[in-house]
Order: sequence, then structure tokens, then C-alpha cells
Amino acid sequence: MFPKRVASLKMSGIRRLFESAPPGAINLGLGEPDVQPPPETIEAFKRALDAGRNKYGPSAGITELRESIAKSLKRFRHDVTFENIIITAGATEGMMIACDTIIDEGDEVLVPNPGFIIYGPDVALAGGRPVEYSLTHENSFMPDIEEMKSLVTPRTKAIIVNSPSNPTGSVFPKDCVKAICDIAAEHDLYILSDEVYHNFIYDGDHWSFARFHDDTIIIDSFSKSLAATGWRIGYVATSKEIVQQLSKVQYYALACPSTPTQYAVLEGLKHGERFKKQLQDTFRRRRDIALRKLLEIPTFSTTPIGGAFYAFPKYSQSLPSDDFAMRILKEGVICAPGSAFGSLGEGHLRFSYANSEENIEKGLEIVKRVAASI
Ligand SMILES: Cc1ncc(COP(=O)(O)O)c(C=O)c1O
Repeated sequence: MFPKRVASLKMSGIRRLFESAPPGAINLGLGEPDVQPPPETIEAFKRALDAGRNKYGPSAGITELRESIAKSLKRFRHDVTFENIIITAGATEGMMIACDTIIDEGDEVLVPNPGFIIYGPDVALAGGRPVEYSLTHENSFMPDIEEMKSLVTPRTKAIIVNSPSNPTGSVFPKDCVKAICDIAAEHDLYILSDEVYHNFIYDGDHWSFARFHDDTIIIDSFSKSLAATGWRIGYVATSKEIVQQLSKVQYYALACPSTPTQYAVLEGLKHGERFKKQLQDTFRRRRDIALRKLLEIPTFSTTPIGGAFYAFPKYSQSLPSDDFAMRILKEGVICAPGSAFGSLGEGHLRFSYANSEENIEKGLEIVKRVAASI
């Protein structure tokens, strides 16, 4: 009845699981910072509303915000201008219009398994075919470069990457980023780089793919960096030619991004550094607690977590991650089953540490008890 590309889309199982949580459950399933956006941004939002900024704006977003983002990106590309930026309704819409813009019917796109849930469906909805590359615990969730090379065919159009990664918490080091860029350069591929967690790196640097590969399409968002997931503002940064095409596609999907929210985010960029540092310090402490608690569980093995706000331990018990997550939920802790992020996520659980230190301690103590009982 419905076209196959739509009928075959699955709803994420995570939400269903969360909905059956007992009252008062500790939420280690959250995909968003548990703090409010900077107060200056909330004030700016209200000012924008009062000033009558409640109307349609330009399809590609307001120029001041595009300029401000371009300035922040000059750290790794000095030639970036506002024409290289389009404001989107979060990274979710950014990734979708990027796929719509570059993918032709039958094109293949390499996507991570496990990976954030939107990539495969976005590629498929654009008429392409997602081809999965593996991220394994044994390889510390870094792509296997030889495998990636072997997956490239004459139909390959792009590689989707996500570092720091949801769900694995891994951060690709410079040599890995360069190796992927070399594959893309050799085969004339785009790199679609989802960088929404670039503010959440706890040790070392963030290596953007745009530093090493011209045909990179950066997809980023203020959802996590300003703790404003509900504001739905993100951006895509790439060549001017691609931005022009993206603007056309965006016009038909969205008309324009929300006007007053863009003014709030603009203010956020002015105070971004201070807020970013606070968030990083808070989340680094939480990461350390989560890691310490997870290491106390003998049947779990956890790789170092460099970024984002997730731990993705592998467990040795032989039951599906859905069932394991449900057993934990019944004891009052919400977490996500690894299988929600792809077939190679099976045998893992995802714990978010976007929660208070006390709740992380308490929640993971419960998980330890459940794990010992299985
Ligand atoms: C890796 C990744 N990309 C994109 C998104 C979507 O972000 P946005 O709120 O900007 O649409 C998320 C949200 O959890 C994410 O984890």
C-alpha cells in the first residue's frame, strides 16, 4: 500500500522501551544534556519574540548566524564564509537534505554499524543503498580501513562518519581521519561527517574531516553543544555550490529554519566557549564515574571513552540486548539495547551519562546487581 522505501522504515525500538519504564526510573538512556541552555540564549530568544522576529526568514538561515558559524570554523579552514553554511532544523534534517542533495538512485553510501539510527534510512529514502562498515569492540570502535577500502565499488558516492560517536563514545584520531580521507580522495567520494558531539571530547583534539578532504559535508547542531535539543537548530558546512543546492532542497522541506531560535543560537555562539568548557568539565567527571562503575562489572568489557556521552560495554552473558535492557529497566534503570544501533551493536548496552553523578553511581550499581544475576 505504501511505497517500499517508507513501509520498510522501522520505528526506533528505544522509545518503546523507555515508555515502559517504572515511575522514578534512573534514566541512563538520554540522548541530550540534562542542563538548560545558557541563560543569555533564553533571554535572546525572548527578545527576538518581542521584537517581532516571528516571520519567515531566508531559506538558508539568517546571514548573521551563518557568518558567526563560518567564523567559528575558520580554525580549520581559513577560507570559510557564510556562503559555505546553511542553517538547518538540527543535524537530523541536515543529514537528510545532504543525502537528498548528493545521492542518485542506486548510489552506495558507507555507513557505520553500529551507528546513529538515521544514516541508513536517510540514504535509502534518497534512493541510495546503505553499505555497512564495522565498528567493533575489539578494534576500539575504530573503522577497519582495509574493510572500508574493500567496500568501495564504482557505485559508492559517499562515506558517513560520526566522531565522537553515538553509540560507542569513540573519537577517531588524526591518522584514522586521514586514512578515511585518503580513501575518499582516491575514489572521488564525499564524506558526510556528523560532528554533533565535537564539543564533547575529553582527552585530545577533535579532528574534523574538513581539514583533510575538500569534498566534506559537515553536519553539526546546537542540540548538544547548547543543550537545546528542542530548539531544532543545526547547520551544514560545505562548498558554496553544495550549499546552493541544499538551500533549494531545504526550501521544499522546511521553507526556512525557525527565525527567533536562530537569534537565540547567535547569542549562544558569543558565550559558547564558557558554556562548552563547563559542559566538558561536567561530562568528563561523569565519564570517569561511569567508566569506573562499569569496570566493576566482571561480565562487561568497556573500551576507553573519548567523547560524546555514552558508554557501550560488551557483555558476556548470552541473551539479546533487548532482553538485557528490559531486565535492567524492571529494576529501575533505563538504558538502550545495543541492537538498536545495528546488527553489530548486539551484545552491547548503551549507557548515557547525561545524568547527575549520584544517579550514574546509583544506576550503574543496579546494573551491576542485574548483571550478577544473569
Ligand atoms: C550522532 C547524532 N547525530 C545527529 C543527532 C541529531 O541531532 P539533532 O538534534 O541536531 O537533530 C543525534 C541525536 O542524538 C546524534 O546522536
